[in-house]
This record gives sequence, C-alpha cells and structure tokens, in this order.
Amino acid sequence: MRNRILPVLAALICIIFYSSCQSNHSQERVSKSFFGIMPNGDTVFRYTLTNAHGEQIKVLNYGGIIQSWLVPDKNGKRGDVVLGFDSLDQYIKQSPYFGALIGRFANRIAHGTFTLNDSTYHLYLNDGPNSLHGGAVGFDKKIWTVIPFTTDSTEGLKLHYVSKNGEEGYPGDLDVHVTYTLNNENAFRIDYEATTDKPTILNLTNHSYFNLNDGKGTILNEKLMLNADTFLPVDSTSIPTGEIRSVAGTPMDFRTPTEVGAHIDDNYRQLQLVHGGYDHNWILNTKGNLSEVAASVYDPDNGRFLQIYTTQPGIQFYSGNFLDSTLHGKDGNVYPKHSTIVLETQHYPDSPNEPSFPSVVLNPGDTFHSSTIYKFSVK
Ligand code: GLA
Repeated sequence: MRNRILPVLAALICIIFYSSCQSNHSQERVSKSFFGIMPNGDTVFRYTLTNAHGEQIKVLNYGGIIQSWLVPDKNGKRGDVVLGFDSLDQYIKQSPYFGALIGRFANRIAHGTFTLNDSTYHLYLNDGPNSLHGGAVGFDKKIWTVIPFTTDSTEGLKLHYVSKNGEEGYPGDLDVHVTYTLNNENAFRIDYEATTDKPTILNLTNHSYFNLNDGKGTILNEKLMLNADTFLPVDSTSIPTGEIRSVAGTPMDFRTPTEVGAHIDDNYRQLQLVHGGYDHNWILNTKGNLSEVAASVYDPDNGRFLQIYTTQPGIQFYSGNFLDSTLHGKDGNVYPKHSTIVLETQHYPDSPNEPSFPSVVLNPGDTFHSSTIYKFSVK
C-alpha cells in the first residue's frame, strides 16, 4: 500500500510545484517591492516593468502612479524622464498629481457643479471656485488592485478600482480598469475602460510630468509638437470660455516642433492668465486616430524623443507654472518653475457644462474605452 501511495504523493507534489512555477512564470519578469504604508495601514507596493531595450517603468498601487520612467538617451545612457518622489509620505502630502491616474474627472469643472438628466450634482471645490482632478480624494489617492501580466513581447499591469455611487459627489458605481503595457519597441500603452450602473460623467488621464533631461532644470529648450490647429482659451479661473481659437500667429502654435521657451514670456493674455506659461487644452487634429501622432517632445541635447498617440479628443499641456523649487524630488532634484512638460490626453475641461464639447457622459450598458501610447526613441 505504502509503495503505491508514495509515488502518487510524489507525483502530486510535482504537479503542484510545477503548476505554481508556471503561474509564477507569467509574473516573474514584473518585480514587486515594498514602497510604504498608508496612514490606514494599507501597504503600497512598487511594480517594475522592464523591456529588452532598457526602458523601465515603476508603478505604485497608490494612485497608479508612474514613479520612475527610465529611458536611454542617444548614447544609451538611461535617465529618469518623469518628476516624482522617493517616499510615499511625500506623494501623500505634497504631490501635485505626479505620475498619477486622474479621475473621475480630469481637469476642471466650473463651480464644481454639473447637471445630468435634470439632477444637479455638487463636487468638492479644490481649485479656487472650481473642482479639479476628481475633488478632495480623487483616483490619484486611491489604492488600486494591481495584477501583473506578461506576454512574449510585453509586460504590464492590470489596475482596477471601483468608485462607489456618491464618491466625491459623482453619481453611479463606476468600475474602472486601467492597463499599463510596455513593449519591446519602447512603447508604453495605457488602456482605460469603465462601466457604470447609473448615468455619470468621466474624464480619465495620466498626469506624468515629463522632463527628458533626467528631471533636471527647466524644459524651455525642449521641442514640443502639438498636432492641433486650435486650443481652448480660458478665463481667470482656468475654465474654457467656450471659444475655440486658432493657434495661428499665437504663442500657442506648436504645429511644428518649437522650443517651449520660444514664446512662453510673450505678452499674450492666455499665458498670463495661468500663472505664467502654458496650462491649456488643445483640440487634437487626430480626431481619435491612434495611429497619427498627437504630440511629441524632443530634447536636442541628449536626443530623447517622445511621441504620444491617443484616442482622446484633447490634450492639456501644462508647463509646471506652479512649481517653485520647493519640492524635493528623486535623485536630489528640485523642480523649478517650467521644469516639466505635462501632456494629459483627455476630454476638454468643463465639458459637462459646455454642450458643444464632445460628451463625457457614460450610461449604464455602455463601456468607456480610451487608449494613449507613449513611444520613446532617439534622434
Ligand atoms: C493640471 C492643471 C494645472 C495644475 C496641475 C497640478 O495640469 O491644469 O493647472 O493644477 O494639474 O498642479
């Protein structure tokens, strides 16, 4: 009897061991380490995605934050191209949305008020008279469930968060899935998907602060291209006025690659209204076409070249006008004014209050989808 049980047991152990090796195998290329503890005791982990060409992205389950993004320059030297912090405590207490997922509504809603199907909703006012980036505790401050995955040529993370009916004043249980995928062509793709059980509004984006010069100094010499003929002028509280203005002949014209600093100090009212610099939404010419480039950034010194593709209708370009060298970032860097190019692919600000803007309403039974690709190379 014993003679028969032993081989069966051994076989069973082998099968269990082998299948556990198999299930770990799909995840072993994505490493996971401890990053910190939330005030409520939740653990924050940092996941590392690495591709065959040395591009490496580190992501927190707190806010889905891209904490580090290493990219080779023209000499093959890797450097971190996004602003951020070393500690969780700084992310919790000081972060101006560094690298985070933004929701439910990226950008501003005037007076934090909108009406949907005859009901009026009031949101938290965290930006003067307006609601910004989801309110007091937006998606950038939530713990997301994270599941790593790999395929032959990619590695990535599936992030999930359920925002309950009434959270931050928004209606409907909103089920949000975000997938981060890094491939071997140095393209990092973000896919957003959401469903709701009641009519609601949403505007999802990632708020990475790019600085292709290893996060050092200003970006005034980096060359920006925005594939947009028009932009949305704002009022003194950064709410679009409703006008759609041509960029032609203005400092807002980035249709050909232009140094960010070339016109940033021009005597142009729109630059002065947003704390000196750029903080506006451009209407993309790409009209949702993911294979046509929407924006690019080039660092002429180190050759790093970023191209952005998106299905979204707009892009907010923010030049770090509120940064003032007081934050102590990674690698000992401080972040002066104009030390970043933030490019948030999204729907237009205050869309719920502008019937002429593309709709941001999500109804039960429908699924929201959007995708953005960040492709790095050198020139
Ligand atoms: C967005 C806004 C800016 C600023 C930053 C965060 O990009 O448009 O005005 O609030 O977020 O500091």
